[in-house]
Amino acid sequence: MPPETLTVIDNRTGQRYELPVERGAIRATDLRRIRTGPDDFGLLSYDPAFMNTASCRSAITFIDGDAGILRYRGYPIEQLAEHSTYLETAYLLIQGELPTAPGLESWRREITHHTWIHENLKKFLDGFHHDAHPMGMLVSAVAALSTFYPDKSDAAAAARHLQVVRLIAKMPTLAAFAYRHSLGMPYAYPDNDLSYAGNLLNMLFKATEVKYRPNPVLERALDALFVLHADHEQNCSTTAVRSVASSRVDPYCAVAAGVAALYGPLHGGANEAVLEMLQAIGSVSAVPEFIRQVKAGQGRLMGFGHRVYKNYDPRARFIKQLAEDVFAVTRPSPLLPVALELERIALEDEYFVSRKLYPNVDFYSGIIYQAMGFTPDIFTVLFAIPRTVGWLAQWQEMLTDSEQKIARPRQVYTGAPCRDFVPMAERGVGELVTA
Ligand code: CMC
Repeated sequence: MPPETLTVIDNRTGQRYELPVERGAIRATDLRRIRTGPDDFGLLSYDPAFMNTASCRSAITFIDGDAGILRYRGYPIEQLAEHSTYLETAYLLIQGELPTAPGLESWRREITHHTWIHENLKKFLDGFHHDAHPMGMLVSAVAALSTFYPDKSDAAAAARHLQVVRLIAKMPTLAAFAYRHSLGMPYAYPDNDLSYAGNLLNMLFKATEVKYRPNPVLERALDALFVLHADHEQNCSTTAVRSVASSRVDPYCAVAAGVAALYGPLHGGANEAVLEMLQAIGSVSAVPEFIRQVKAGQGRLMGFGHRVYKNYDPRARFIKQLAEDVFAVTRPSPLLPVALELERIALEDEYFVSRKLYPNVDFYSGIIYQAMGFTPDIFTVLFAIPRTVGWLAQWQEMLTDSEQKIARPRQVYTGAPCRDFVPMAERGVGELVTA
């Protein structure tokens, strides 16, 4: 066996270094040994946007972006979306193994027991402007949860478990309340007789009926969408959660950071942006002109492309099938033909093919959500609810990883060298520098 090392020769000094390679990675801190002299800090690796830097070891989610593979704890996403439920998948992500039947039942009961939120939190939501975006409200409401639990920072395993359960349980309630506020509707309280997805539909859509009965097809579709969105290894929002939590702040504040990161249009906000894009295109005949504009650099084809997948996103493939089930019980979406034509042209066009741009999870999910009766401003909220379990699994893993410390990247300084302070009277009348 050849040695698992990397030989580096520093041409500045002629020095040769052997760096250990472990699981296909070198340790960036080993580069610090490479120095030009005693005053040299040592070599840094420069990697804006973490294009090629592993920030942790993780046993939760596996992605092979070139092959279009996604697995949670070793189980293929297609099998979980087809045969599992969101709560079972949540258990798998948090505990590492699929539950037994009694284990699942007690997990379901635990989550259901914690769905209600304090009335003061409801009053806090009341304070938002009538047209506040539900994602902005959700970021704040999740952070506000932190103020309700004195045990929030308790590091003991039992206390951590309780925070996990509370967050998974309360996220749909906060999300639904934020949505109803944005519609000017009274809040609908959790109905603990219903499933996780069924109860969410109840809190979102319940009107005057005494007992809300979710449509089983839509309930199942929403649950499957939650399975697909539950985790995605070290993406932008998960990295935000891990970084913020590395300061040992409580999980409510850390998850609020994840919700904030997810809000962005390049991340979870893309599902809302896809729908806006499809509505702006309007018809199949307008698709070629839109593609021309994208290729000319005038905007992006939202719902296409991924940092890791350079092949069809396996979640998008499943969602496309799921759309058929949903459209069988709802009115077919007038935007579906536009989406199908966009996909058809993009998958043949050299611009998209050469850049390996394929539909991602957000391309079809918005059309399904719209057919289910949701307005676009709740789409990203519907992503945040299931991703909470991924953030929490990653948070737990980080806390029990002895190699992790407070996140603190280095920088390559490019500013002015040391210079003396200039008194105001000697500064002249230069232009105002704003950046
Ligand atoms: N439409 C048109 N061109 C694109 C797109 C797109 N959606 N995505 C990337 N490109 C081009 C980009 O212009 C660049 O071209 P060139 O090499 O000529 O400059 C090349 O492809 C590489 O792009 P990049 O920005 O370096 O790629 P990235 O890995 O940094 O970005 C991405 C990944 C997801 C942010 C990006 O593909 C994108 O903006 N997609 C649209 C937004 C979207 O759908 N986001 C959801 C992602 S999946 C779910 C989630 O993460 O929440």
